[in-house]
Amino acid sequence: MNDDILLNVENLCQYFKSGSSELKAVDNISFSVRKGEVFGLVGESGCGKTTTGRSVIRLYNITSGNIYFKGTRIAAGTRALEEEYKRARLEREHMLSRARKEGTDVTDCVRKADAELERLHEEIKAAKADNKHCNKQYAEEEIRRVRQYFSPLLTACTEEERDTLEKKYKEALRVASKERITNKIQMIFQDPIASLNPRMTVRDIIAEGLIIKGIRDKKYIDEQVYKMLDLVGLSPEHSGRYPHEFSGGQRQRIGIARAIIMQPELIIADEPISALDVSIQAQIINLINDLRNELELTVLFIAHDLSVVKYFSDRIAVMYYGKIVELAGSDELFRHPLHPYTRSLLSAIPLPDPVYEKKRKRIPYKPLLAHDYSTEPPCFREICDGHFVLCNGAEYSEYRKRIEGKA
Ligand SMILES: Nc1ncnc2c1ncn2[C@@H]1O[C@H](COP(=O)(O)OP(=O)(O)OP(=O)(O)O)[C@@H](O)[C@H]1O
Ligand SMILES: [Mg+2]
Repeated sequence: MNDDILLNVENLCQYFKSGSSELKAVDNISFSVRKGEVFGLVGESGCGKTTTGRSVIRLYNITSGNIYFKGTRIAAGTRALEEEYKRARLEREHMLSRARKEGTDVTDCVRKADAELERLHEEIKAAKADNKHCNKQYAEEEIRRVRQYFSPLLTACTEEERDTLEKKYKEALRVASKERITNKIQMIFQDPIASLNPRMTVRDIIAEGLIIKGIRDKKYIDEQVYKMLDLVGLSPEHSGRYPHEFSGGQRQRIGIARAIIMQPELIIADEPISALDVSIQAQIINLINDLRNELELTVLFIAHDLSVVKYFSDRIAVMYYGKIVELAGSDELFRHPLHPYTRSLLSAIPLPDPVYEKKRKRIPYKPLLAHDYSTEPPCFREICDGHFVLCNGAEYSEYRKRIEGKA
């Protein structure tokens, strides 16, 4: 896998049971987030943005697809594989009964079908094992790292130093055994009121992750909490207060502090500003941007309109009803929006220009009028370097022409 890629989401599906039917909240989406970039995920309410974020932090067992973080598979859905397995088994049975009736020799075909069933069985087993053990394997690596760090120190130390060093070593081993790869992904939640426990002080809210990680050193925890408060623009005096004593913007800062104390590599910021006053929105965006540079973070930034992510994101994916309909570099997307839904979203952005605003027309998106998928369904295609659109063959040719005409 490409070293540059931190998060890789592959054919992710997240379906929810709703009564007798099924809601495809996220329906076969693929994207990857490169180290150090801000990746914007945009779409209207209910299109599956939060569900995507929650699937990445493993709040759900994903229906199918794979999620890789730093090359390690952290989530794997087995539904598609299990369905394929059932289909393959059924086909094998049909083949056998047909052969029995017709008296034909199908030994070779049966052997092939058995090999395919075995392959699928192994894949399902591997997916289940990765879901269960990815954190355990990460902890084992951490333990190995701690051992490698301490063993030369222990051989070289004097007798007086040995006691303290051994204590430190034991503590580091204990903490390492509780490390989880998924701690490296933290989410800032959409609703700063609902996501903070009203009965906990700010200190306890921010420190919770460290305590779960097994850290017991109170002095270290307090130091870290104060450091985080400082990083997010709050002060140590705030640590004894409760969430309801803060404004919306301050609560979001607490949410950010709670995330960064875990030293994450990837932050999923789920509409962190949509519940805030316009004047505070820019402050929080700037804060996330500063932290991103200071802590070398990668950000998956979720928003429901393009204007928010325009200046902040390196690449943007546009989602509509559980599917990614367009994905491109931020500049490219604004210069050459191709999918009618992206064009509709762009037409909704107001500009501070009264003459333009008087003439601005919103383009509505009506999927049934915009596409004719009766003969050929759409799939995700690369129109030009790094610019992908969900389209069928006819649309592909049209989009290519449009890009070439503009080039
Ligand atoms: N736990 C759940 N159980 C059942 N349905 C769910 C669940 N979570 C989300 N959904 C449904 O999945 C769809 C996508 O929801 P999601 O919260 O991901 O949308 P969103 O894009 O984040 O929207 P918003 O911009 O309003 O936050 C919605 O129709 C929602 O009702
Ligand atoms: Mg949401």
